[in-house]
Amino acid sequence: MKKTNKFLDLAEKKGQEAPQEKFSGTLAEYLSLVERTTEITILSHKRLYDTIINYGVTRMAQEDSRCNNLFNGEAIKTYDYFQSKFFGMERSLAKIMRYLHSASMKGEESRQVLLLLGPVGAGKSALVEHTKAALESSGPFYHIKGCPVQEEPLHLIPRSLRVKFKEIYGITIEGDLCPVCRYRLLKEHDGDYINYPVVESTFSVRARRGIGVVPPMDANTQDTSILIGSEDISKMDLYPEDDPRVLSLNGAFNVGNRGIVEFVEVFKNEIEFLHTMITATQEKAVPSPGKGAMIYFDGVIVAHCNEAEWNKFKSDNTNEAILDRIVRVNVPYCLEVGEEQKIYKKLLDISDFDAHIAPHTLEIAAMFAVLSRLKTSNKVDPITKMKIYNGEEVIEKGYVKKIDINDLRDEVRDEGMTGISTRFIMKAIDSALADSDRNMVTPISIRDALVKQVKEQIIVEDLREKYLSFLQKELHDEYLKILEKEITKAFVSAYQEQAESLFNNYLDHAEAYVNATKVKDNVTGEEMMADESFLTSIEEQIGIVGAAKENFRADITAYMFAKLRRKEIIDWSSYAPLKEAIENKLLTSVRDISRIVTKSKSRDKKQQRKFSEMVQTLMEEYGYNEASANEIIKYASNNLWRDS
Ligand SMILES: Nc1ncnc2c1ncn2[C@@H]1O[C@H](COP(=O)(O)OP(=O)(O)O)[C@@H](O)[C@H]1O
Ligand SMILES: [Mg+2]
Repeated sequence: MKKTNKFLDLAEKKGQEAPQEKFSGTLAEYLSLVERTTEITILSHKRLYDTIINYGVTRMAQEDSRCNNLFNGEAIKTYDYFQSKFFGMERSLAKIMRYLHSASMKGEESRQVLLLLGPVGAGKSALVEHTKAALESSGPFYHIKGCPVQEEPLHLIPRSLRVKFKEIYGITIEGDLCPVCRYRLLKEHDGDYINYPVVESTFSVRARRGIGVVPPMDANTQDTSILIGSEDISKMDLYPEDDPRVLSLNGAFNVGNRGIVEFVEVFKNEIEFLHTMITATQEKAVPSPGKGAMIYFDGVIVAHCNEAEWNKFKSDNTNEAILDRIVRVNVPYCLEVGEEQKIYKKLLDISDFDAHIAPHTLEIAAMFAVLSRLKTSNKVDPITKMKIYNGEEVIEKGYVKKIDINDLRDEVRDEGMTGISTRFIMKAIDSALADSDRNMVTPISIRDALVKQVKEQIIVEDLREKYLSFLQKELHDEYLKILEKEITKAFVSAYQEQAESLFNNYLDHAEAYVNATKVKDNVTGEEMMADESFLTSIEEQIGIVGAAKENFRADITAYMFAKLRRKEIIDWSSYAPLKEAIENKLLTSVRDISRIVTKSKSRDKKQQRKFSEMVQTLMEEYGYNEASANEIIKYASNNLWRDS
């Protein structure tokens, strides 16, 4: 029997496919391509911009709560190319795209370096990697065959003919032939530029084609050959001095011509080293090694670094020339708990991690990360600020707290440039797992792991204290609230239905109360007065007592009926204060029984059955496994309801 092997089959099939025809011809033939599609001559910034845009641009939906709560209802643009991989970064991405857009129109920006500035682990490198990958996915580009800097074939057109060329094709040719091609044109092709060979190629990070990378180097090892190539000593004996054949044009600017040059942690390099970068932007040319002429350069220059290095660099006023050439885009840490969790999910998905992650585990970790990154506000406490930044409504005394996120943002500058990094959290998840003998991580074990890691790794005392306080006080309390709600939900059979029915009753009675009408019983059809004690039993859950009741009932009735008039669907969670009141009401109603049932010692038969049902619900409806369900119940029994 013939053994099948999926991979070999695939390889065979691939081998049978007709190889993609790649263009290979002369400048004359290239010109007929240009006639058909002038776009093939676009410069690097535009190529990159178009490629990203072609993946799609979406406007954030007005219904998206992030749009309303975080972006002032402005339907901001999001770029599909980045959307599924980068989270909570819309502002930075918009700035990067704005830069590329102006640069693509050959404005001043095309002569500027794009600098991504942000703390370690904010995703700068990942962003640049993904951007380079966009070029790899872009269509082919054309260049002079054998050119060490894969230059634009139109460079072959002599200066003297370029005005005419523009009249015919509408294309302005920028840049002159590189020394190597010029030499070959004259010596090997007798100046016959029209028949000079042109080929088609693709961008490739690994093959260093159109994408160049400059790693940070210390003062001793840095050498401009990394940037602009060198003269090949072994060939110096063969050719006369200044003969371009001695050149090895393999520096980052040579390699990255037509595409991108990336400077990793740029300001770790000595300043002298960066002068080439200025020349490349200012003059759109880089020096050639040795004494030759400058070589035309067209590429997007992206650099990244952290704030400390930037501040040091900026404070040195001999660096003004470079500063003038930089478009800075801050890439702060994510400050939204919801988006931050998506980052962890993404990183876990691409790792081999296969353990059970109990509900709210990543949420607790994300809350800690965000709390550590926020600056102190004079208007609200840290947890409130965190929630508002996450687009949540914060309820106070029966009303949604009227705090404008913009006021909080205006209070501070450069937020998100310090704090706990994504990597710190990922390490904690790993160590929580390592400490578990059940192949799972829970909100409880992640918090323990974070406490341990903060104690071990955060050396600055003030910070350590602050972080420990978040973990041991604020987040502890916050988790207990989440936990009590979770257990209540698992306890109250048909939680949603019960909540819904409380809501409908409340609305009926509140309306009757406000309009001094009667409520009709659905079953008996009997008319009755608004049930004051029922209304009060809900309202007191969120501290509404006395005269405040009247307003609350009137507000809620008006709010709901306005919604109904607009044909919006309303349910028990539509109005945040009422939602909270209903949740609390349900919470109170089962508090006594949950206290008894969660305690393992005192369960009788009936309570044991109730307990099993609850574990079942936690598993089937809320995503726990048996071990994690048991762990949180035990935790609840030890930490909640301690007043008894
Ligand atoms: N906002 C974010 N969205 C998606 N992934 C992120 C985000 N911030 C950080 N990451 C991820 O965290 C990891 C560390 O980021 P990295 O690019 O190395 O940071 P930097 O270069 O800024 O130090 C990467 O895998 C990156 O994908
Ligand atoms: Mg990096």
